[in-house]
Amino acid sequence: MSSTGRTDAIAACRDLLSYLQACPTPFHCVEESCRLLEEGGFSRLNEREQWRLEPGKAYYTVRGGGSLLAFRLGLRPPAEAGFNIVGAHTDSPGLRLKPNLAKTGGPYLLLDVEVYGGPILATWTDRDLGLAGRLLVEEDAGGLEARLVRIDLPLCRTSNLAIHLDREVNERGLTVDRHVALPPAVAEWSGGEDPSRVVLNVVAEAAGVERERVRGHDLCLFDLQPPAIGGINGEMIFAARLDDLAMCHSALTALLRTGEPGDSTAVVALFDHEEIGSTTSRGAAGSMLRDVLARLVEAHPGGGGLPTAMAGSMLVSADMAHAVHPNRPDKHDGSHLPLLNGGPVIKTNANQRYATDGETAALFRNLCREASVPVQEFAMRADLRCGSSIGPAAAASLGVRTVDIGNPILSMHSIREVAGSKDPEALNRVLELFLAGCG
Ligand code: CO
Repeated sequence: MSSTGRTDAIAACRDLLSYLQACPTPFHCVEESCRLLEEGGFSRLNEREQWRLEPGKAYYTVRGGGSLLAFRLGLRPPAEAGFNIVGAHTDSPGLRLKPNLAKTGGPYLLLDVEVYGGPILATWTDRDLGLAGRLLVEEDAGGLEARLVRIDLPLCRTSNLAIHLDREVNERGLTVDRHVALPPAVAEWSGGEDPSRVVLNVVAEAAGVERERVRGHDLCLFDLQPPAIGGINGEMIFAARLDDLAMCHSALTALLRTGEPGDSTAVVALFDHEEIGSTTSRGAAGSMLRDVLARLVEAHPGGGGLPTAMAGSMLVSADMAHAVHPNRPDKHDGSHLPLLNGGPVIKTNANQRYATDGETAALFRNLCREASVPVQEFAMRADLRCGSSIGPAAAASLGVRTVDIGNPILSMHSIREVAGSKDPEALNRVLELFLAGCG
């Protein structure tokens, strides 16, 4: 790598680290993404209103606080020039708070949590956890306002049993019962006020609102340890939520860099709820992408309908991929071994758990060649069940050609994951070419 290339890679890494730090929840991810888009000259649109769109201009819209669609309209109608879409997801597996926030456990107050998606639960034990999300706050006029909240303090902890009380833990493996062992201790408890109110007081105060005005909440726990560049030569990134915030960041960076409009319309779709199957009002299997693309087609009167546009479009579904594990290469197919810092990975599955096919893989390989970026291939061992992504959900609902790709990581769905520090800039360049209408 040239010294300029190395400087670019470091700059891209630092940008990613600050994005990760700003986004402990999907709601914060959307807020931070909106901030970056506003800085880049994108205008906000409300789904409740009529849109007056001008070719060549850049806009974004938010649904449910957790999903975001941003686009730069092409100079030609989508029915002629198509959409180039990059999709990723804003949510990560972890712990969410129940409606009643706390319960008692002997002399302790415990947060009442539910598991969201498929985290490696053992990695959530003995970690200092903060709390963040959104509150739905009653306004004077009677409506509800969503207010983000974030408590960057070691509020709570799920403690492991001492080795002396669980001598076989290393032989048996650390198992965490979701209902009994998982709820983290948040305070000492000696009776008195309602447990949930004690916690709600703290959350409302952190948000700067009166507790009585808080009418609802979506709250998550998060790892307090900041993201870091690691390894002797700085070749790795150690961080929470790389899956899939690293791809959200890459997609946004690429869109923001495509300053001039091209013929085709560039779209970035950041969806909530991928980790729980995407079938929700703001998930990738829901109507959001279709609803927005239909409006963009209508912005060109007489330019042809959505089906014509979709037939000429392509979706790059960007979600992290499995790098070969340093200690357990036996878990991988020996002829599909993606490496950290080896470039983006094309993910293929014969049963379409990934939406890639021969044609879309070829198109993505061409983009990588054009960007002078190496590309890697992933397929599961034939005797292991494959994961999935937003790709198949979005492809099925839109009928759009789709490729599933992602930068390689280790420890996927652990509270902290590991990525390569040279991969972010490489993928940024590929996605920028794609969104600019090349390939
Ligand atoms: Co993912």
